[in-house]
Amino acid sequence: MEFPFDLAPVLGERFCVVDQHLRPAGRGGTVKREELEQQLRTVIDELGKASAKAQGLSTPVTSATRMESNRHVLYILRDTCPPRGAVLGFLKVGYKKLFLLDRAGAHLQVEPLCVLDFYIHESQQRRGLGRELFEEMLKRERVRPEQLAVDRPSEKLLGFLRKHFGLWDLIPQVNNFVIFEGFFSTRTAPARRPFPRPRPEEPIKPYSLSERDFLREEAEPPWPFNLSRGSPVRGSLRPFLLRRDSPGGDAQSPPEPAPRRASSLGRVGR
Ligand code: ACO
Repeated sequence: MEFPFDLAPVLGERFCVVDQHLRPAGRGGTVKREELEQQLRTVIDELGKASAKAQGLSTPVTSATRMESNRHVLYILRDTCPPRGAVLGFLKVGYKKLFLLDRAGAHLQVEPLCVLDFYIHESQQRRGLGRELFEEMLKRERVRPEQLAVDRPSEKLLGFLRKHFGLWDLIPQVNNFVIFEGFFSTRTAPARRPFPRPRPEEPIKPYSLSERDFLREEAEPPWPFNLSRGSPVRGSLRPFLLRRDSPGGDAQSPPEPAPRRASSLGRVGR
């Protein structure tokens, strides 16, 4: 992905790490700081759009504005070839408070590092660049692959995680996050929480709405702790909610997390 400006002052070396402060990596020489900041915003926005397009999302999950309002970290990979270089892809991660099921079906409150958005330019896929970027992130964040939660992975990403990191054994969840065997065993004694009874008068809101991570976690805890009116019903929760809404539905019973494959997550309507 090319841009009409020199990427070196904006992104620095091959790997560029950007947080919510959106600081350009290098010095611009004659280019003003404000201009570099604007160029960085352009790069992030364009990457976000390209990733959304590749995933069939109606709105980008990643943008400069969203970066500013979340404590996410963006790893950008670039080709440093002169004269201007090109951007090859990016990986966005961030810590999120989640309520996840362990293998025995118990709900646990955890705050794992989550893979939120990941994209390698179409012309560069399947050349090992995704792996290079992912491994750089693991090294800098000091996490192991099985410690990550992944927000609605695409089939390509699931294949990628299987191939490079041996992550194939999913622990089924009732939300949109995917975790793998080893997720809990590498954690120090997470707080076990009793499953809260859903209030019968209110519909259940799933974790993510139409797109990933649009809700700031500070603003609203995830389902089922944020029960409120008027939420859309979709995805893996739909069968339970329809049962719950029906006249004979048992509104007092918590949902049984039916085992499901990640491929049933659905790519439409995020
Ligand atoms: N079809 C199937 N599997 C694929 C594909 C594809 N088109 N592309 C990559 N993979 C998987 C395969 O396991 C592949 O191994 P193989 O070629 O032997 O089959 C492996 O990834 C290749 O590894 P890398 O070359 O290191 O990965 P790459 O540079 O292609 O990056 C990525 C992987 C980021 C998933 C890339 O394919 C991509 O950008 N896809 C489109 C966007 C996307 O789906 N992003 C993930 C969204 S979900 C989220 O971000 C939480």
